[in-house]
Amino acid sequence: MRFQAPRGTFDILPNEEDTWNQVQHACFETARLFGYRYIETPIFEESGLFERTVGEDTDIVEKEMYSFEDKGGENISLRPENTAGVCRAFIENGLHNTTLPSRLFYYGPMFRYERPQSGRYRQFHQFGIECIGDESPDVDYEVIKIAWDILNTLNFSNVILNINSLGDSQDRFLYTEELKKYFSKYLNDLPKVDQLRFERSPLRILDSKEEVTIKISEEAPKTLDFISSESLIHHENLIQNLEQLSSIDEKFQYKINNRLVRGLDYYNKTVFEYTSDSSGPQGVLLGGGRYDPLIKILGGQDTPAVGFAMGIERAVNELKKNIDIEKNYVDAVLIVTDEDLRIQSTQIANSLRSHQIKTIIAPRKSIKAQMRFANNINSKSAVFIGKSELEDNKLSIKLLQKKSEQIDIAMDDLNQLNKILNS
Ligand code: HAM
Repeated sequence: MRFQAPRGTFDILPNEEDTWNQVQHACFETARLFGYRYIETPIFEESGLFERTVGEDTDIVEKEMYSFEDKGGENISLRPENTAGVCRAFIENGLHNTTLPSRLFYYGPMFRYERPQSGRYRQFHQFGIECIGDESPDVDYEVIKIAWDILNTLNFSNVILNINSLGDSQDRFLYTEELKKYFSKYLNDLPKVDQLRFERSPLRILDSKEEVTIKISEEAPKTLDFISSESLIHHENLIQNLEQLSSIDEKFQYKINNRLVRGLDYYNKTVFEYTSDSSGPQGVLLGGGRYDPLIKILGGQDTPAVGFAMGIERAVNELKKNIDIEKNYVDAVLIVTDEDLRIQSTQIANSLRSHQIKTIIAPRKSIKAQMRFANNINSKSAVFIGKSELEDNKLSIKLLQKKSEQIDIAMDDLNQLNKILNS
């Protein structure tokens, strides 16, 4: 019997480690530059937490949660996202008593039972930030700018920010009524999924991927025409900041997208997504927005907040398009030319490693086979260990990436070797 990774999951293999680290490093360092600090919450929470926040009628809660009853009879879900968990932790640990806003970031696996397709997995990773305790549009801008700096650090080209405002819950109610009126005229033309959405959550029709619906939605009422003056001022203030950014950074592009509503219930005012030119779900690199009511819904004090989460797999896939990920992962392979010198070879290998030279000892095979091994794994060098080298207290080295140039290095000059190999 051969086992396979469960559908919608995958293994991260050694040759992908560098790319994953690169993405994680860009995220963590950018967040830290803006004064954000790491938070980690459990991978599973009480199911009710997601039902109350993400929303019972959303696809995520309705169809995609990995939920089960544990041995103590508790209803548990693997987290489908982490804003709810971070807010739960914020309240539970009394973070509202610290200086606000709390600037937090997280990284880890999330779980959604989705139909697997390119860019959509059942276990995936998110990096996210949450800025909790400031209602001003300045922090909406800060969060959007952090995301932009990360994408820029990773050298993504053709990225565009889509932005919209949903207003507050009262605005949303009025808007939803208006939307219902509009779509009721086309109800028979809408595909089944969107007819269902019409009944349960009309706003989601705007999110539809069905071509007919997209066409009909073009003339649908716009949220921005229904939001309160307070929400509108908030939105306009943010747009001024974005205008300013695009005037100083020609790569930065944004678009007000009236169809952007996002698939989670907790948002108010600002919602946004950054998309790349890849098609389908793969193209949405990250998404977020403001969620002022959420902490109060969870029993905390009324505390406004804003954040985003980025899909790490999507960023990694985007990067893989541009780089050759089969790089050297080892600096030196020791070629043992005399089998009696195996013990000395392990000591030499350890000396190299103590000078930060990544070293592997070739398998016990002929010298030719050991050389083939060094070439096959793309080692930067082959280091020959023989009797004469040991007598002279030196290493004889072939630089495999530099036309097999041959050099000798004294055993007490390994720093020099490190410089040569990593120059
Ligand atoms: P979300 O839009 O559901 O928002 O997910 C954010 C990002 O996670 C997406 O843009 C995408 O890159 C990635 N993602 C989502 N589902 C999958 C999947 N099945 N496979 C691969 N990648 C996926 C949230 O999760 C909110 N908590 C974001 C947020 C934070 N809002 C405020 N603060």
